Amino acid sequence: MTLENIKLDIDYVRSQFPAFKDPLSKDWSFFENAGGSYVPKNVIDKLTEFMTSTKVQPYAEYPMSKIAGENMDKATHLFAKMINAKSNEILIGGSTSINLYVLSNALKHNINKGDEVIVTNQDHEANISPWRRLKDYGAKIIEWKFDSNDHELKIADLKKLINSKTKILAVTHCSNIVGSVNNLKEICDLAHNNDIIVIGDGVSYAPHGFPNVKELGVDFYTFSLYKTYGPHLALLYGKEEILKNLPNQNHEFLKGQYPYTINPGGPNHEELVSLIGIYEYFENLYSHHFDNKNISILDKIDKINDLISLHEEYIANPILDYLDKREDLNLIGKKRIINKNRAPTISFYSNKKTSKEISHTLHKFKIATRNDNFYAWRCLKYLGIDTNDGVVRLSMTHYNNIEDSEKLIKALENI
Ligand SMILES: Cc1ncc(COP(=O)(O)O)c(C=O)c1O
Repeated sequence: MTLENIKLDIDYVRSQFPAFKDPLSKDWSFFENAGGSYVPKNVIDKLTEFMTSTKVQPYAEYPMSKIAGENMDKATHLFAKMINAKSNEILIGGSTSINLYVLSNALKHNINKGDEVIVTNQDHEANISPWRRLKDYGAKIIEWKFDSNDHELKIADLKKLINSKTKILAVTHCSNIVGSVNNLKEICDLAHNNDIIVIGDGVSYAPHGFPNVKELGVDFYTFSLYKTYGPHLALLYGKEEILKNLPNQNHEFLKGQYPYTINPGGPNHEELVSLIGIYEYFENLYSHHFDNKNISILDKIDKINDLISLHEEYIANPILDYLDKREDLNLIGKKRIINKNRAPTISFYSNKKTSKEISHTLHKFKIATRNDNFYAWRCLKYLGIDTNDGVVRLSMTHYNNIEDSEKLIKALENI
């Protein structure tokens, strides 16, 4: 990463998020970002604007409707640009779980008896269950297990699982428990050499840097927009050449009009339009830090991603260092963030106290966190952790500051 010594202006960042001034939340250090993030004021403004002046059925010729439709298209177009996709490769659905169930329902037609589908035990269940269900259509389900010593998914292990029958591989770009960033590009190269379709779950990755889906080479990629500073929606990207051949799951007359063919019904209009606010926020973030205005959205996203990653390293490494030193606490995943190898999503459990006890105590220090299995119950089970009590997860994002980290370490010291 080369950023010519430019650092994220954290005061500017926090000034964009009303939650940091709200009486209910302002005194809390927010460590639950992997569950859902705060939204910048641009998103709230776009939502309010839509609800105030264009809350009508879109795409008719009268102005309120015309503008509503134009803004819906604009939101999709901008998000496509931000992740290097085409607008007709983007589908906005209610959640990642819904998007993946709908996708697996479409891909089941590609499955013949005896075909193999690879899932991991590191993923959130949203990218496991829909693929495991292909068993009902004759697929054999193969599990790519992570290494129980360092908690990493090893590509050498994947190589042993792939054969001429493998048709689908569902894998997380970043686990919501382990936090490691998996090398999705290398995984895709390997899979494509064997004609395997790859579905990447970017839910825990995208809040820390929007992906370049073409560079990754992934066939399908999904992330939850409510964790990337937006409303409760999720984005599904699919390569055009695959999308256009999937069966129509929408109304009969929409046949051929991909990507609308994948999801029955359309997206939530007002929330879709509010995504323009995420784009505006990132544009403002770019302009606040960099001079060169004449570069593409994608290049701007690239620079902001670097800026954010450096800040996240700065705020998360002291916590990782601290947890690693505590003999009574077990840190899951990599012990340091070095050059984007890990998200600041930090899970641990104690030898002495339940995760519930720890998270309750942290609340007393105004640290917003929780204990859970976070739906990655196969991951926890494999590690021998009680899936009811789960782990304590401290998930940060770029609007957290070093004061949050210091407050957390002090609180953990007290527990
Ligand atoms: C890694 C990961 N994948 C998938 C999901 C499911 O996302 P959604 O809540 O949008 O269905 C989550 C949600 O927490 C997640 O963390």
